[in-house]
Amino acid sequence: MKAKVYITRRLPDRIIEKLEDQFEIRMWKEENVPVPREVLEREVTEIDGLFCLLTESIDKSLLDKAKNLKIVSNMAVGYNNIDIEAASQRGIMVTNTPGVLTETTADLTFALLLATARRIVESSDYLRGGKWETWSPMQLTGQDINGATLGIIGLGRIGEAVAKRAKGFDMNVLYYNRARKYEAEETLGITYYDFDDLLKESDFICIMTPYSPETKNLIDRDQLSKMKNNAILINTARGGIVNEEALYEALKSGRIWGAGLDVFVEEPVSLEHPLLTLPNVVALPHIGSASIKTRLRMAELAADNLIDALNNEIPKYLVNTGLVVSKEN
Ligand code: NAP
Ligand code: GLV
Repeated sequence: MKAKVYITRRLPDRIIEKLEDQFEIRMWKEENVPVPREVLEREVTEIDGLFCLLTESIDKSLLDKAKNLKIVSNMAVGYNNIDIEAASQRGIMVTNTPGVLTETTADLTFALLLATARRIVESSDYLRGGKWETWSPMQLTGQDINGATLGIIGLGRIGEAVAKRAKGFDMNVLYYNRARKYEAEETLGITYYDFDDLLKESDFICIMTPYSPETKNLIDRDQLSKMKNNAILINTARGGIVNEEALYEALKSGRIWGAGLDVFVEEPVSLEHPLLTLPNVVALPHIGSASIKTRLRMAELAADNLIDALNNEIPKYLVNTGLVVSKEN
């Protein structure tokens, strides 16, 4: 009998076909509407594998309903939408899609940095809004990127890829990470700073850590108060890492200069959100990894993880690796 798999959003045909070859598939067929919770709760009861997105909360109460579930395959590198401990306790594997999205997400992070510093969106709206009447010396002036100091918080795969781009723009690159990365310092020509000093010295601050209890509100009033008043904060990691209320106050009062945000605490962000009222915020709808090639690779990888797990192999990108160790013992 074929294993049963539920897919929480319409996937490209070639990925569906690949999964259909091996499994009995059911899928939420919408592309732009997430699967309702009650549907997911119903579907999860009998399945062996779940292919999900970062929009689904895979929590204890959902996992409790799953009688046969062996794997949750998340089509994202971040997995803060999944209760890893609860999955591990129930012997359920959790996988993610690291690596294949690194360069694409670094491109977007850098694009957001450039757009915020040089007021690209605001300038485009200015032109289209019929406000461009003449060239003027200080009209729509922004911040220089070349020669500025960039502080990267979380020097992982994407953090390093952002650092590489920054060096091409002649930036001075500082980083803070839990563990110091001597090899990256050497190869990328970047400098380790402690957290507070990085906040004080950087013209641009780029958040690149995962979201976890440890990084929740990592950037709050106190951290914003240490930044330069020309500082630009870029967050393409996860919304809750920055306290949005504190960020709004810092941007509104001119405590810092601007912010580029691809991620929000609540997604999709409400159009009533105070941050969206500010001209010095560039806001994007969580498109860090959104190139055609990369999204296809992520879907492919998530499918491969699922296939491995349901064929009793260890998936390449297993998050809860302790599970396998404890099964082997
Ligand atoms: P990664 O390689 O695991 O890098 C994360 C880095 O953050 C690691 O170097 C880690 O250090 C560091 N870190 C973790 N907790 C920290 C803390 N409390 N303080 C300082 N540093 C800390 O992950 P990645 O592939 O670069 O992805 C990073 C995150 O980007 C993902 O988790 C996801 O949330 C986000 N993302 C967003 C998009 C988007 O579409 N906007 C796309 C892709 C990824 P250690 O070495 O000490 O663990
Ligand atoms: C996207 O945000 C991801 O974590 O892959």
